[in-house]
Amino acid sequence: MREPMFPTNGSQPSPPPPPPPTGSPLPPPPAPIDLGALAPPSAGAVVELLDPSEPRDDLVVEAHGLTKHYGNLKALDEVDLEIPKGSIFGIIGPNGAGKSTAFLILATLLTPTSGWARVCGFSPVAEPEEVRRRMGYMPDVMGVYENLTVKEYLEFHAATYHIDRSEWPSLVDGLLELVDLDVKRETIVDDLSRGMKQRLSLARALVHDPELLILDEPASGLDPRARIELRELLLQLQSMGKSIVISSHILAELQQMCDAIAVIEAGQLLASGPPGRILAQLGVGRSVRVRFGDGIVEEFPVAGDDEQQALLRKLIVDDDRAVLEFTTVDKNLEDLFLQITQGIVQ
Ligand SMILES: Nc1ncnc2c1ncn2[C@@H]1O[C@H](COP(=O)(O)OP(=O)(O)O)[C@@H](O)[C@H]1O
Ligand SMILES: [Mg+2]
Repeated sequence: MREPMFPTNGSQPSPPPPPPPTGSPLPPPPAPIDLGALAPPSAGAVVELLDPSEPRDDLVVEAHGLTKHYGNLKALDEVDLEIPKGSIFGIIGPNGAGKSTAFLILATLLTPTSGWARVCGFSPVAEPEEVRRRMGYMPDVMGVYENLTVKEYLEFHAATYHIDRSEWPSLVDGLLELVDLDVKRETIVDDLSRGMKQRLSLARALVHDPELLILDEPASGLDPRARIELRELLLQLQSMGKSIVISSHILAELQQMCDAIAVIEAGQLLASGPPGRILAQLGVGRSVRVRFGDGIVEEFPVAGDDEQQALLRKLIVDDDRAVLEFTTVDKNLEDLFLQITQGIVQ
């Protein structure tokens, strides 16, 4: 019989990667996340035992009924996710929607109250070591690294993954080149700009060459140029065969690189799939703006070409209106987001 994905006693999440070998000149890392968030489910918390289906080879992340309660607050409420291998998948939602909570669970750092997940084929709860070997997590805050240079920072994280010291020079060179920080290798981490810190944090998530990257709001606080550079870097990583899950409440940049998205609000999944399909399902894929002979301009939502054709025929032939001009307006993720979220704050 298959092992349950979920322990019956709601056990503590395993500790983060082990400390560097004794004798290392490097200081210990700051706590990567809020310790409060690491608390195990309280006594009496509901832990569902589900026997999930066979792992699917085409998916890098699967989640079913993923739920997390913080006291009375449902930070995540029965969320299902299917994230295809090799994709860039965006989790979009306003502040407090539950994005970081979902990522902490997938990254093995937080135990869900109920539901199950499979990340790179393994359970983050029952098999956290297997998940960590294959997944790189970039938290939304980097922490403070006093007096540590960029190079030392990456070496330290290489040590936490037990990467042999002889491999550090080439590893650090490769990563710094990838994220375009070679000239900053001797700079103190805390002196880097926000964009550089984000790129360094991404390099850190790549130290053990994971197949999946989980990036919590990597674009937040970046200026437009840094955002474009980040997007290019992520597309490059995708072309190297990596799967990427990225969260944001800034939508425009995700639309251009995400193969699929999930929209969450107040812990609930509102929609998921390729952005175009969600737009079409909601009937907000397109609208036609028409200028009539009397100067009046009206906008009509249409689902596709057929509906647009029917609309124009109706206006011109059936209604006998003088259509001077019409333009097709494509909606984007920003419109979609505003349409399906209601600004619920828990
Ligand atoms: N450790 C915690 N203890 C109590 N409540 C928390 C904790 N972490 C997050 N929350 C709450 O859970 C909800 C979801 O938070 P979070 O997952 O951080 O959302 P997002 O990343 O989408 O902004 C918010 O209402 C937040 O205040
Ligand atoms: Mg967050």
